[in-house]
Amino acid sequence: MSNKKKRSWAEPYKIKMVEPVKMTTREERQQAIDEAGYNTFLLRSEDVYIDLLTDSGTSAMSDRQWAGMMLGDEAYAGSRNFYHLEDAVRKYYGYKHIVPTHQGRAAEHIISQLMINEGDFIPGNMYFTTTKLHQELAGGTFVDVIIDEAHDPENEHPFKADIDLNKLEDLIKEKGADKIPYVSIATTVNMAGGQPISLGNLKEVRKLTQKYDIPIVHDMTRVAENAYLIQQREPGYENKSIQEIVLEICSLTDAATMSSKKDALVNIGGFLAVNDDELFDKARNMVVIYEGLHTYGGMAGRDMEALAIGISESVDYDHIRARVGQVIYLGEKLVEMGVPVVKPIGSHGVFLDAKKILPHLSQDQLPAQSLAAALYLDSGVRAMERGVVSAGRNPETGEHNYPKLELVRLTIPRRVYTQAHMDVVAESVEAVYQNAKEIKGLKFVYEPEYLRFFQSRFEVL
Ligand code: F0G
Repeated sequence: MSNKKKRSWAEPYKIKMVEPVKMTTREERQQAIDEAGYNTFLLRSEDVYIDLLTDSGTSAMSDRQWAGMMLGDEAYAGSRNFYHLEDAVRKYYGYKHIVPTHQGRAAEHIISQLMINEGDFIPGNMYFTTTKLHQELAGGTFVDVIIDEAHDPENEHPFKADIDLNKLEDLIKEKGADKIPYVSIATTVNMAGGQPISLGNLKEVRKLTQKYDIPIVHDMTRVAENAYLIQQREPGYENKSIQEIVLEICSLTDAATMSSKKDALVNIGGFLAVNDDELFDKARNMVVIYEGLHTYGGMAGRDMEALAIGISESVDYDHIRARVGQVIYLGEKLVEMGVPVVKPIGSHGVFLDAKKILPHLSQDQLPAQSLAAALYLDSGVRAMERGVVSAGRNPETGEHNYPKLELVRLTIPRRVYTQAHMDVVAESVEAVYQNAKEIKGLKFVYEPEYLRFFQSRFEVL
């Protein structure tokens, strides 16, 4: 046995500005969740103690990024900050052209409208809510071709975002390559639990799609996190830098949509990146209709500057190791406590297995929604449902989609909380798990047409 003492690690930054958070009583939380219709999206942030709703737009910017904000060139056209952003995208991601957008779904809107025709099919590694909706609104049908392991929360496959090449080729043969405008690849896959795709698999997907002349569109929202997990897990990449791995991933794809509110450490922003000149012309023309001129696309100059700097910080090894390390710290604590979670632990959050935690509730009784509400009631920790409510309805039959995964996501903002916050969260989850039998199901009392998880309201059964 080695007598080397285990050494602790800590966040690779020190804190120079603090934002107080409010502690609440159980009675106050009961009132708040009643008023919010048992939907954590409808809570006021002031009533939340530790906010793990999302890692989107919730990061703390660095002192360098805040300094960059002061250098905003707020010109309508040709802002200096746009060119800095364009340089950063070319240097760190390798794409030729960018069209800035106010956030990721705006880029998804543009690419979907430009590439998808009525009756097309878009295969992808599982789905993301907004990505799939924009594909459907453009007349397409999303087809999940992820490996089966991704739908099993217990399966410890290291690359659960990999594509099943047989499923993909069968679909191409069945529908015909001309009905498939592109393959949609996400790094990492959010709905699978923050799971990465391997470079080995992506290279195979590239080979197969090139045979049929089908391009790949990359949802690169969390590409640096995916690159870190490749470095840690995929043979042959242990000595490559995060920057090199990110570039290699992007080089195997033709276009990308980015929600900069995640990996890239800013509170707002996104872009569409493309290599094809003709597609770029069309996208640049379309962005002026929906977002703004092609050199700002809905972002202020200062926001583009913060983003350019954030991109460079996102591929820093110390940063990404601590970011993913904090998520894994929380996940391993919950595993030790015996709480059922999706394995392996993902890169942006820990996903609680609501089906296992609440076996007395059927999927129609909305177990993940109920569990998220119970967690808020216990401690003021806010999480998000990722189950039947998020999956929405089948647009043709109007029935609920019943995903195999019924999860509650504890999503960790970047550089915001400390390890002590993670301890408090773990203890609250443990307490809720121990009293899980008491948790009742929910029913819809209001349901909007699109992306219903954001605004639906519920009542206790
Ligand atoms: N793609 C992925 C994988 C995402 O996680 C998100 C957003 C988007 C696209 C859309 O980007 O929000 O900038 O329009 N995910 C957030 C979340 C909302 O909480 O997971 P956006």
